Amino acid sequence: MLSADLLQTAAERFGTPLYVYDSAELDAALARVQTAFAGARIFYAMKANPNLHLLRRLAAAGVGFECVSPGELARAEHLGVPGGRLLVNGPAKSDGEYAAGARLGATFIVDRAEEVGLLPPGSRALVRVNPALAISTHDHLATGSKASKFGVTLEQAPAVLDALRAAGHEALGLHVHIGSAIRDAHDFTAAFERLAELRAATGNVQVLDVGGGWGLDADLHGIAHEARAAAERFGAELWVEPGRYLVANAGTLLTRVVGTKRTGRNFCLVDAGMTELIRPMMYGAAHPVTPLWEGDQTDVWDIAGPACESGDLLARDVTLPTPERGGLLAIAEAGAYGAAMSSNYLSRSRPAEVLWDGRDWQVIRRCEAPQHIWQAEL
Ligand SMILES: Cc1ncc(COP(=O)(O)O)c(C=O)c1O
Repeated sequence: MLSADLLQTAAERFGTPLYVYDSAELDAALARVQTAFAGARIFYAMKANPNLHLLRRLAAAGVGFECVSPGELARAEHLGVPGGRLLVNGPAKSDGEYAAGARLGATFIVDRAEEVGLLPPGSRALVRVNPALAISTHDHLATGSKASKFGVTLEQAPAVLDALRAAGHEALGLHVHIGSAIRDAHDFTAAFERLAELRAATGNVQVLDVGGGWGLDADLHGIAHEARAAAERFGAELWVEPGRYLVANAGTLLTRVVGTKRTGRNFCLVDAGMTELIRPMMYGAAHPVTPLWEGDQTDVWDIAGPACESGDLLARDVTLPTPERGGLLAIAEAGAYGAAMSSNYLSRSRPAEVLWDGRDWQVIRRCEAPQHIWQAEL
């Protein structure tokens, strides 16, 4: 995380709540991925953080993008990303996404058999397989479990590959993404083992895309070793789709203390909440919280936001020196699914995003004003 001095300066200059990003940390995360997965093609899962400035930095380093909406495809097109570096994914793609993917020359990730007939003629495609495993993450984040809506079953996959070929598409290979913020890296090994069962029916394929979902402290080299072995079994090139791993540590959410109250629990009330960082509420995610003030007296506090929702908590049971109005809290690991999942609920303006480039701050997204929120209603 950036130094306390730098964070204080940013909060004073740009106000709070504020997303701050460290370009050095973004570059370092990318370097770790490039080293561990040397030889693999990297497609950043844009959903984690679609800010154009971050995308531009990744694109300049040769990274491609996995897109799951018309808006994400529009961002890639705006940046001039070549089709060979684009994946169009999603369980319920719209006609517009098929058309945009074809226009851009992207590769499609087929999520169900019916899509074979919906793809534009002569498409390149991967078939997403759901290995139907117990995944060590929050239910809402588990995409490779039997109950999740994603992919085709192992039994269905060979027939979908055949159907793609019969329809004149280029069936590049297989795709598996089992979830996000996965705690136990053995889940990846288990998924790759299940996929290997397909080899007898599918024969060799050109591409094996193993998605993302790596925990921030995961042993990337270990996962990469297993992924490479899985790709070799199919004689395939390895593709990966990291999202959170690339951007989470680069981002911090800065929020100021508005006040405190001691009722059933000790509440430290701050100016950011579920509208700026919904992961704690939606996934029970625990983000590290650092107070940027000092004091001898400490106590255990819940960090609560301004929304009229009991679940609007950024963290529970955090030990803090006694908070005072105006004190600054830094909430770490907020670069992924922070700004990306922020909302205008309660007509709250989404905060600015600023990037520290080692010498100065660059505003990479301006803070919204209330009229920006209601503009489309006029
Ligand atoms: C298909 C696919 N690939 C990659 C990712 C990136 O996951 P993460 O951000 O956990 O690395 C996601 C996110 O859920 C996804 O749905």
